[in-house]
Amino acid sequence: MLTKEQNELLTRVEGDAPMGKMLRQYWIPALRSEALVADGDPVRVRLFGQNYVAFRATNGQVAIFDEGCPHRGASLLLARNEDCALTCIYHGWKFGVDGKCDVPTEPEDRRAAFAAKVPLKKYPVREAGTIVWVWLGEGEMPDFPALEFTTLPDTHVRSWVAQVQVNWLQGVEALVDTAHVGVLHKSHIPLLADEDEFDDIAPRYDIDPQPYGFRAAALRKMKDGSEYVRVTEYIAPWYAYIPQRGPNGVCVMSIPIDDYNVNQWYISFDPINPLTKDRVKFFESMIGPDPNSFYNPKGTFENRWLQDRELMKQGHFSGVHGIPIEDFIVQESMGSIVDRSKEFLGSTDEAIGRLRRMFLKSLENFKNGKPPVTLDKKIDYASIKTRTFYTPPNTDWRDKFKEIVEIK
Ligand code: FES
Ligand SMILES: [Fe+2]
Repeated sequence: MLTKEQNELLTRVEGDAPMGKMLRQYWIPALRSEALVADGDPVRVRLFGQNYVAFRATNGQVAIFDEGCPHRGASLLLARNEDCALTCIYHGWKFGVDGKCDVPTEPEDRRAAFAAKVPLKKYPVREAGTIVWVWLGEGEMPDFPALEFTTLPDTHVRSWVAQVQVNWLQGVEALVDTAHVGVLHKSHIPLLADEDEFDDIAPRYDIDPQPYGFRAAALRKMKDGSEYVRVTEYIAPWYAYIPQRGPNGVCVMSIPIDDYNVNQWYISFDPINPLTKDRVKFFESMIGPDPNSFYNPKGTFENRWLQDRELMKQGHFSGVHGIPIEDFIVQESMGSIVDRSKEFLGSTDEAIGRLRRMFLKSLENFKNGKPPVTLDKKIDYASIKTRTFYTPPNTDWRDKFKEIVEIK
């Protein structure tokens, strides 16, 4: 449970809100690389309540500017994209992918000097893991968080993103809330695991702090006395690795669009081989056809998010098709910003409590001029991996985990 003030502090991200200022210090996944085509349409990116324009230039490079033209604010979504630059259609000012400006409307003798002073807002970008990343922070730019999937060729990675109408913290809290997997996603469990692996509905949780966040293991007793272990890695501020059977990985991220909307990212990757068609199909079977916006709900509170009550009578637990969609619907049903002063948390909510305490502490540090959590240290992001596995009775799951993921 949080006070109303703490809830405001943790959830608000627009303008000068402390959480937004702190989160903008991290590298941010902005949009899918494939959404940008050389000399193609500029694309709006909305993050932390601000609108930006992203484009891919003639030479393949990507840039992100403020959406409003620095001259008089016409939207650069309307701009011409050619000749390695965006040209505003209002007065023809031209903004190069390299950040250089040209102002053909100025007299020749002062054109270059004037253009050099145009306050174009261009942000550092990077393409990795099939995603365009941007840095919107102030002061010293941190190292790029080279998570495993960002180090792989594009053939090994596929990303999907959905815009969901909830505050970003509801999204992140769902990522660390492993207790809901065996309940909300019950009818999809055959896709994730053997059914008996979820028979134990009151799993034990171990949560180990890590330099990057924490490692949460859910331990379920099996009939033969062994334990089925699912290890989720939470990486501050908005990443989680969802455990899979083999070395395949799934990373999920919750990125604030504004106070009331979040980009929910799903990344599927294979560190060893190119992703198979079957694996891509598996994801696509649960989500809509547009990888840049796979959740276009026709569902609302009024129509109960199109939940299929008939299907529920026939045994489907949630009446909702697709694991991510189940998540989005329950999160939206809580209201855009849930009132955390009215919760009643149980023992399975420990990871959520830990997450909130971590952010509150990080905000305090940030207020006092210190770097926020994880940006104060060097982290080997690429080495973070996760798995599901079994351990024999009376052994520590950590030993087996270390063996499997080769933690040095
Ligand atoms: S508003 Fe863009 S060039 Fe004038
Ligand atoms: Fe979920």
